[in-house]
Amino acid sequence: MNLMVAPEAVADKRASLNAKKQVVLDEVAVSDVYQLGIGAFSPLTGFMSERDYLSVVESMRLESGSIWSIPVALPVSEEQAKDIHLDDEIALVRPDGVICAAMRVEHMYRPNLEHEAEMVYRTKEDAHPGVRRVYERGSVYLGGSVQVFADERIDEFSNHFYTPQQVRAAFAERGWKTIVGFQTRNPVHRAHEYIQKVALETVDGLYLNPLVGPTKADDVPADVRLRAYKAILEHYYPQNRVFFGVYKAAMRYAGPREAVMHALVRRNFGCTHFIVGRDHAGVGNYYGTYDAQRIFDHFDFAELGITPLFFEHSFYCKRCGGMATPKTCPHGDEDHVILSGTKVRQMLREGIAPPPEFSRPEVVKVLMEYYSKQA
Ligand code: ADX
Repeated sequence: MNLMVAPEAVADKRASLNAKKQVVLDEVAVSDVYQLGIGAFSPLTGFMSERDYLSVVESMRLESGSIWSIPVALPVSEEQAKDIHLDDEIALVRPDGVICAAMRVEHMYRPNLEHEAEMVYRTKEDAHPGVRRVYERGSVYLGGSVQVFADERIDEFSNHFYTPQQVRAAFAERGWKTIVGFQTRNPVHRAHEYIQKVALETVDGLYLNPLVGPTKADDVPADVRLRAYKAILEHYYPQNRVFFGVYKAAMRYAGPREAVMHALVRRNFGCTHFIVGRDHAGVGNYYGTYDAQRIFDHFDFAELGITPLFFEHSFYCKRCGGMATPKTCPHGDEDHVILSGTKVRQMLREGIAPPPEFSRPEVVKVLMEYYSKQA
């Protein structure tokens, strides 16, 4: 899908929207709009209709039957909804006041948010950051096709942003036939590096595609992670086997359901394989360690259009003298260097460097610099 306004039509389209009803989006909706625009969310052609929404919530498929695992609708408040009517064309406005898209309001519905939470996030608790966001965003959902203006904002990510079309072309240029996609919202630690490189042993290229859209407050900020990605790529990866690009979508923390969405999106970017490790896209203790792998049992990989590569919990084993998983290491926990994300953040806040078995020194340096300024 390419839902971008054609360059020659931009001026007229912008002018026509000035007179239309303006709806100011939150950061999640802004990121959704741009993902829709570039076709990262293909086959979606806009925000979901009620039928698509219900079908996705219940059965992880659009009404057409295509696999899709997470609702992408546009929530508005009851107050906002009063001035919006079916068949209106509305202007979607970023928080900074710039119109980023036009939307034809084809559907308007009141979702059962608790049911959505239960089905998609597997919990109704608002302590879950994804669920809380579902509850806090509007209670009326709009659906309809969008026409998106190119994102003109220049920031530290712009040089590393590519559309699915551009990424596919880059893969073709390099002659890569098999490409493994990697999603992360964290700095690349040794465990990430290990599973990427194990995968890379059998495919032509790695698409390192960290999510840099809205995340929860205590995740490492995306600009800091960007510096860490650059450091590790420079020192530890073969340049001709890795393609680095940012994924500007919002993190949903929906664990298994989000793993499926992450895989579909990387398919759209041209990947043939996608890594799903331990507790993919999880948060707290809401999901079992391998739930995000088991969910793929529901799908035929040919239909999915991408093959997930599953990895068990990986760690450094002192006795093996290298990275391993329970599949390849016979030793016990006492020999394994395992640190939770929470523990690592706590260490960094206290000025303690995580050991090189956990994270490369170049990455630790970037993180320590950031956390020392936070103190
Ligand atoms: S997230 O986007 O999935 O939330 P995260 O950075 O935590 O990001 O993980 C990125 C990918 O690496 C996911 O597929 C996750 O399952 C996997 N992963 C993270 N840590 C480990 C680990 N220690 N062992 C195996 N897989 C891991």
